[in-house]
Amino acid sequence: MKVTIVGAGNMAGSFAKRLVPAGHIVRIVARTREKAETLARETGATAVSAAEGKDADVIVLATPYAGAVPALAAFGDLSGKVVVDITNPLTDDYMGLTIGHDTSAAEEIARAVPGVRLVKGFNTLFAQVLASGPALSNGQVPPVFLASDDADAKASVAALAASLGYKTVDAGPLKNARYLEPLAGLNIYLGYGAGLGTVVAPAWLPLA
Ligand SMILES: NC(=O)c1ccc[n+]([C@@H]2O[C@H](COP(=O)([O-])OP(=O)(O)OC[C@H]3O[C@@H](n4cnc5c(N)ncnc54)[C@H](OP(=O)(O)O)[C@@H]3O)[C@@H](O)[C@H]2O)c1
Repeated sequence: MKVTIVGAGNMAGSFAKRLVPAGHIVRIVARTREKAETLARETGATAVSAAEGKDADVIVLATPYAGAVPALAAFGDLSGKVVVDITNPLTDDYMGLTIGHDTSAAEEIARAVPGVRLVKGFNTLFAQVLASGPALSNGQVPPVFLASDDADAKASVAALAASLGYKTVDAGPLKNARYLEPLAGLNIYLGYGAGLGTVVAPAWLPLA
């Protein structure tokens, strides 16, 4: 798959580290070309401009929520493009969400970027967990929860997650990002606030 990662921070690095060895064509678009090039050198990805990165099967949005719409605007018309929104709309201290209940980061981004085929996903995996691969303790695999109103877009992101060894949980329509973002908030509390560290992930387990 051709995957363009937007951003060159922690999550962008974890995605690039995992996607390149999995055989994907990985390109990085960042607002500072130098940062994109550094990450590209470290991971075997390629640093490109937004215009060059637009030709992707999946665009991974790995900026803070506040930067998401401006970062996507740099691509111009994104009609028909599959974008996976991994953002969490966090307060400055990471211990709360800035929006929720009657909307979500994903819905706001979808509203602001016309024609984009938005999928919420990967937002419940810490960068360290993503970089380490799918196996947690006892061989358990943390799921990637996916919410979208576009079944084909969701299937594309599910295939991407599967290529990295993850199982996916179909979390329903994009509106259910209203649940997935607080779930990530709880995970962040447990990781940082409660001291479990950034080595935990939420899972949905069936009865044996
Ligand atoms: N870290 C995690 O464990 C984790 C887990 C799940 C989800 N997430 C979510 O994933 C997203 C990225 O997190 P992160 O930890 O990777 O953050 P990060 O390390 O701070 O990296 C953010 C990246 O976004 C870029 N950026 C910021 N504003 C931008 C804008 N207006 N236009 C273009 N690029 C912009 C930054 O560029 P500069 O370097 O130029 O500022 C940086 O490359 C966040 O929404 C976060 O909530 C994070």
